[in-house]
Amino acid sequence: MRKMRLIVLISGNGSNLQAILDAVQSGDLPAEVCAVISNKKGAYGLERARKAGVPAVVKVKWKDQDRRDYDAELAELVREYRPDWIVLAGWMRILSMSFLKHFPDRVINLHPALPGTFPGVNAVQRAFQAFQQGEISQSGVMVHLVPDEDVDAGPLLAQREVEIHKDDTVETFEKRIHNCEHILLVETLKNLAAHMEDQNA
Ligand code: GAR
Repeated sequence: MRKMRLIVLISGNGSNLQAILDAVQSGDLPAEVCAVISNKKGAYGLERARKAGVPAVVKVKWKDQDRRDYDAELAELVREYRPDWIVLAGWMRILSMSFLKHFPDRVINLHPALPGTFPGVNAVQRAFQAFQQGEISQSGVMVHLVPDEDVDAGPLLAQREVEIHKDDTVETFEKRIHNCEHILLVETLKNLAAHMEDQNA
């Protein structure tokens, strides 16, 4: 059986990347992480990739570079690895169509909130604040396809609710969110792998 080829794009810590690497390593996820690409030089996720023996590539956008030019170069780089899926795991840049047009229905984003809520940065903190103000009673995480430049929106692949407790701090809530993300992202990728296998059968 051919293993599904993944490219993981990150900007920071890479705990979700780690969940993928661990699942690949244990044989739980029939996939190969072909490369990890970061738009930030110091992203800790790069170190995680190296430790797992996966190519860790830095692709920084220069100050005056047009974002569409950057995205076109990024697409070139990604294409060389012939990925089945491109996983945005804490990738904190909005990808333009200069990138996305090359990978229709192939880009997956993870977001630490439920569909239609708290798009963009600091979603966990904003959800927690909304809870404290009595506006929401729970939040969650989602995994979706990225068809266009709409931020943290697109056809849903999976979602899971995460409770917020009265005695939570933003840190305890964030920990629960991340734990949920690590599980949901790997589960979603496993489903995609199973689907790919069905199609190849
Ligand atoms: C994750 O919570 C991910 O959902 C979020 O960044 C974090 C990265 O953590 N992404 C977004 O907010 C996208 N809008 P990690 O680097 O430890 O995987």
